[in-house]
Amino acid sequence: MAPARVVVLISGAGSTMKAVLEATEDPAYGARIAAVIADRDGAAGLDIASAAGIPTAVVRLNDFPDRSVWDQAIARTIASFTPDLVVLAGFMRILGQPALDQFGGRMVNTHPALLPAYPGAHGVRDALAGGAKVTGCTVIIVDAGVDTGPIVAQAAVAVEDDDTEESLHERIKLVERRLVADTVGRMLRDGWHVDGRTVRIGASFTANKETP
Ligand code: GAR
Repeated sequence: MAPARVVVLISGAGSTMKAVLEATEDPAYGARIAAVIADRDGAAGLDIASAAGIPTAVVRLNDFPDRSVWDQAIARTIASFTPDLVVLAGFMRILGQPALDQFGGRMVNTHPALLPAYPGAHGVRDALAGGAKVTGCTVIIVDAGVDTGPIVAQAAVAVEDDDTEESLHERIKLVERRLVADTVGRMLRDGWHVDGRTVRIGASFTANKETP
């Protein structure tokens, strides 16, 4: 069977995308990255993708007259790469209705906190400020809210007394890269099913696997 097609959206370093890319080198992984799309020039992950021969695209908000036109443009760009699964890996914008209409249920996002705790743009900073002793990372199915979608997978990371936002985020990212690469592979090999707030991955759900 041909490997499933993953389109990855990034805004920055792309270390999470790189972890997925490395996982795809094993044919048994069952998926390949069909394209990497960024919302800004200079996202370092674009260079990583280009070096690996993966098509890239940049869809900048400022190039469009308003947000709704950008929403349509990014949905069109994602669609042009015919993804089986869309992975938001450090993508720092909310996707609008056009992307949800086309890819709802087969779009995942990774967040550096144990959702529903500490959603939003500063999940690591907010966990520290909140005095959390354990935080981590969460892979969710994207819905219309900010980090509110059903939870696919989570991993915990202990907060150390002397942690800064940077040191804690680095430790989370080590765990997060493995979690995202593992979860994306399992979803695409085994299928998944979303029932309300509950997401299950497994061979018994292959029949329910969301396909374009
Ligand atoms: C990751 O920790 C991801 O969870 C976070 O950005 C980092 C991306 O790192 N995303 C968010 O905070 C989204 N709210 P990377 O660019 O090195 O993959």
